[in-house]
Amino acid sequence: MAAVRERFVFAEAGRVTTNNAANTQPPRALLALMQRLAPLYDNVHRGQPTASQHTTRLFEATYDDIAAFVGAPGRSNVVLVRNTTEAINTVMYTLLTQFREGDNIVTTTMERNSNFVPWFALCNQILPRLGRRVSLQLARVDALSGELDLAHLASLVDARTKLGACTAASNFLGTQNPLADVSAVAAASGYLQPGGERRSYLLIDSAQWVPSHAVDMQALGADYLAFSFHKMLAPFGVGALVAREERLTQSLPFLYGGDMADDGGVCADRVSYNDLPWEYAAGTPNILGAGAAAAAGPGPDAE
Ligand SMILES: Cc1ncc(COP(=O)(O)O)c(C=O)c1O
Repeated sequence: MAAVRERFVFAEAGRVTTNNAANTQPPRALLALMQRLAPLYDNVHRGQPTASQHTTRLFEATYDDIAAFVGAPGRSNVVLVRNTTEAINTVMYTLLTQFREGDNIVTTTMERNSNFVPWFALCNQILPRLGRRVSLQLARVDALSGELDLAHLASLVDARTKLGACTAASNFLGTQNPLADVSAVAAASGYLQPGGERRSYLLIDSAQWVPSHAVDMQALGADYLAFSFHKMLAPFGVGALVAREERLTQSLPFLYGGDMADDGGVCADRVSYNDLPWEYAAGTPNILGAGAAAAAGPGPDAE
């Protein structure tokens, strides 16, 4: 315990907190890393200065580390955002134009509101204004055991279910969901996606899962994982959406402008977009934050 305490500065300030489900304190080594990076850093993808080129290499490598950390094929699968909530909203906005009249979304009554409010708003406020009716279905949780009612979930998922959105682990109940079973239900729905696949896409809210489990996104068969680095030692401000590459190439981007546009690809009458993952990186990113996040979770030891 003394050795662990030694790695953190917060105890010296008289603060010992255990609310790690909400956020963790950054360790001493990570604060030192940020201090080392700050004087040398520059904006990324801005050409000539040596500092910019160096920072760009470090920044791009964080995408590789984060992909490897959750078993995704590579940097093209990673979208860096501010937190889990923003990652889930990214899924919502990138799929917005794909919903068809009569579709449904299935989630559970176990979700943190970050994985409920976006789907509620989409179905009840946003899509109705665009003249499309899409319903939101909620799978039950057993009131005594706190377990997800998988049979009820399976009964809600059908050939009109474009998306299933399920937490891996509940921040409230502590329940860990049977993700392989949930994934099998989504895979068997028969929903015809725009790319020709017949299954429902699956988003896993991984905020309470990635920090404490070895994750293999490809083995799981999920389309999207959403999580926050401030729950695994990094400072606030960086979250990730890790997605199957086809989900990102077959969707419209969420945010527009800056690095997401192709270099030389912006004319008055035509705009083309950058390659992945930068197509989903509009504007100047949180460069130091990404470096700290990658070092905190997946990357090389900050020391
Ligand atoms: C299961 C779950 N999902 C989503 C969130 C939201 O995370 P953030 O505040 O980083 O967006 C939390 C935060 O506690 C959570 O526990």
